[in-house]
Amino acid sequence: MAIFNFGSINIDHVYRLQTLPRPGETIASRSLTLGLGGKGANQSIAAALAGREVRHIGAMGEADGWALDRLRGAGVDVSRIARLPDEPTGHAIIMVEDSGENAIVVHAGANRAMAERAVLDALSEIGPADTLLLQNETAHQQAAAAHARAAGARVIYSAAPFEVEAVRAVMPHVAILAVNAGEAAHLAAELGANLPCEGMVVTLGARGAEYRDLRSGEVTSQGAFAVTPVDTTGAGDCFTGWFAAGLDAGQTAAGALRHAAAAAAMQVTRPGAADAMPTLAEVRAFMSRQT
Ligand code: RIB
Repeated sequence: MAIFNFGSINIDHVYRLQTLPRPGETIASRSLTLGLGGKGANQSIAAALAGREVRHIGAMGEADGWALDRLRGAGVDVSRIARLPDEPTGHAIIMVEDSGENAIVVHAGANRAMAERAVLDALSEIGPADTLLLQNETAHQQAAAAHARAAGARVIYSAAPFEVEAVRAVMPHVAILAVNAGEAAHLAAELGANLPCEGMVVTLGARGAEYRDLRSGEVTSQGAFAVTPVDTTGAGDCFTGWFAAGLDAGQTAAGALRHAAAAAAMQVTRPGAADAMPTLAEVRAFMSRQT
């Protein structure tokens, strides 16, 4: 079983501030760090550190080889990542304030420039035992999801950044949708309550998360673990990567939710996105300390 993750790779430029700027305001940052990010890369690293076989599909510019090294170092197969000579690697400007809250601007660059044929070729080996994970920072999501679904794979769509039209396009091919509570309500208003997928994993902020089995109506809930956040960037990606990894490992929804919630709790206590993802050993140790 493998997780094929078709997703973005960004260089995150992270500025630490006391508070996020208001419109029209200019403020000085306390520090600037560069790190690996992109919702796709974050989820690949999360799932690989959770112990699963992860094959990342995506695109970068010709520079930034260190980002590939980070993915490789976490155990991600990078052989399906294209290097595009005429496009820069995607990047994000991320402002993080003292509370851990952030604001993010993304420039897609190579992430949205990969040819559809190259995406489908990279998925040529996907089969019924595998998972396709994807997010909304690439082009050709619908074609990738349709291909994976036709091959019998489980398709998990992390609807981030949220756009209702992007969800509408991939929905016929999706088994599990990953959204937050506001997005779930927005989707219900736009697409109706009866979504044509198996299930929905919904993050609820401080209230934790839940998995809604849309066929049986059963809801499995998981509370949040109490931690003091220093940087919430990539926490949702950490959660989704670990949830996908749990299902890929044969865990129940309850088991996958619990591991994902623990991993995300740990991830927000460290600065960075991909660079802050915990290992399986760290998550197990954290869970064993909880009552
Ligand atoms: O979800 C966090 C991620 O969003 C960051 O790593 C940034 O690159 C953007 O893709």
